Amino acid sequence: MRIDEVGRSRSPVHPQALVPSVPDWHQVGGFRRTRSAFNGFPFPCEVLAMTRSFHRFLPFSCGWPTCFCLLAMLWASAHGSLSAHEGDHEHPAKPVAPAEAHRPSPLPDRVILSIGDDPTNSCGITWRTSSDVAHGFVEWAEATHGPEFRLKPSRIEATTSALVTDLNPAHFHSAKLNDLKPATPYVYRVGDGANWSEWHPFETASQQPESFQFLYFGDAQNDVLSLWSRVIRDAARQAPKARFMIHAGDLINRPESDADWGEWFRAGSFLHATIPSVPVPGNHEQAKNEDGSRRLSHHWRAQFTLPENGPPGLEETAYTFTYGNLRVIGLNSNEKIDEQTKWLESVLQQQPAPWIVCTFHHPIFSTAKERDNKALRDAWKPLFDRYGVDLVLQGHDHTYGRTGLIDGNVPETLSNVPIGVRHTDPQSGTVYVVSVSGPKMYNLAPDSIMERSAEDTQLYQIIEIAGDQLRFESRTAIGSLYDGFTLTKLPDGRKQFQPRTDVIPERKREKPQTQLPESKAKEEPVLPGK
Ligand SMILES: [Fe+2]
Repeated sequence: MRIDEVGRSRSPVHPQALVPSVPDWHQVGGFRRTRSAFNGFPFPCEVLAMTRSFHRFLPFSCGWPTCFCLLAMLWASAHGSLSAHEGDHEHPAKPVAPAEAHRPSPLPDRVILSIGDDPTNSCGITWRTSSDVAHGFVEWAEATHGPEFRLKPSRIEATTSALVTDLNPAHFHSAKLNDLKPATPYVYRVGDGANWSEWHPFETASQQPESFQFLYFGDAQNDVLSLWSRVIRDAARQAPKARFMIHAGDLINRPESDADWGEWFRAGSFLHATIPSVPVPGNHEQAKNEDGSRRLSHHWRAQFTLPENGPPGLEETAYTFTYGNLRVIGLNSNEKIDEQTKWLESVLQQQPAPWIVCTFHHPIFSTAKERDNKALRDAWKPLFDRYGVDLVLQGHDHTYGRTGLIDGNVPETLSNVPIGVRHTDPQSGTVYVVSVSGPKMYNLAPDSIMERSAEDTQLYQIIEIAGDQLRFESRTAIGSLYDGFTLTKLPDGRKQFQPRTDVIPERKREKPQTQLPESKAKEEPVLPGK
């Protein structure tokens, strides 16, 4: 024990005082591994002491050099046997089973903040626990410079629902915070009263039309933890004050896969808990019934707490909110298109904000081959034209494409990819964007109305609303500016479109693939308009 103490403190103790007892001496391997100060190798004074002690206990007499050699042989033998012992216990690495990797516990996980009906005074919060947590609570308070906000937080009980996934049973807890103050920093935590998350910060929207940024992501979908995580994290680095994040469908690949959803939550980590999410479902959030019909993934409503102000039957998949002087309309392009068309027009008729952004999954103008969504275009584009929707944010085609200002004059006879025609009006109309944030990539259609496009590029978008200007940036996974433009609303109501020129070269394959990627070939066609 004294050697141990000396080894750690490096106190100048005489070697004679370091003589170990006999029982210790027979445990050279253990001595070497646990008591030396220098990563297992005996300290010189320890060697000297051990040699002296060893010499004293030998049943025959010998000189100091001989004794030292014997000691070295003994040490080497012990070391060798120890190494062999360690080798016996080496096992090849094995992957952790998905059920274990994504197993819920009493500790809250998958905490996500969602946009509220009125972001100036409300928000939604959802999290997951194991199914033995029967009651979940949200505590919140106005944030303070120090930790004093903890002294008197407000508390509400969440609504708890059970979900038996393909991996594990779980409880999802959902709560809405209302009556918050505008433009106020808050903190919240979630838990069962004994097991709590950390305090997550967030801020309500201002009632004044202040400048702000938000993020938009096309399909994340595949290898979400491995390859999409860097995209959302770089987006947060580039726009750390983003007020919400739009996910334009296909967040994951398999609608009822708990592992896929687990990866999505881990990829975004605390960003999900602090920047409100605005997700709309894609075809990969549509699960198949036994009769072949499609329905929304059971995970969707369990794990998001979104506005329920859309058409009946499409709660939390089609909804709208106003943030400052921007109206956002999220649509579910998978089903009930007629119902949503009527609802969309009613929302546009009551338009209370000068800027309008619509988001949904299937693009009005496809960027990829043989993926036209004519029924959707016929239903919604006339409304975008009539009510002057400024920007439409979409996904699905695993490429990038951005139009100029497309007005209502695109002839019906034109297909999705009119050859050699640019029916754009620089002073009115709508900008349509298709983007992809995950790693799955398709081919671009050879002829397109897109003014800027990309293949094989993971992108995210930062959009800023600043008075009479909308500034759009599309950035690659490493933050390079790939595309951008500024829309300016002129006093007479017209729009001015100004593309950015300080962008990196366009990224397209030199030799377009003639065959569809395997993953695309296997994908079932989606028929919006049903
Ligand atoms: Fe899709």
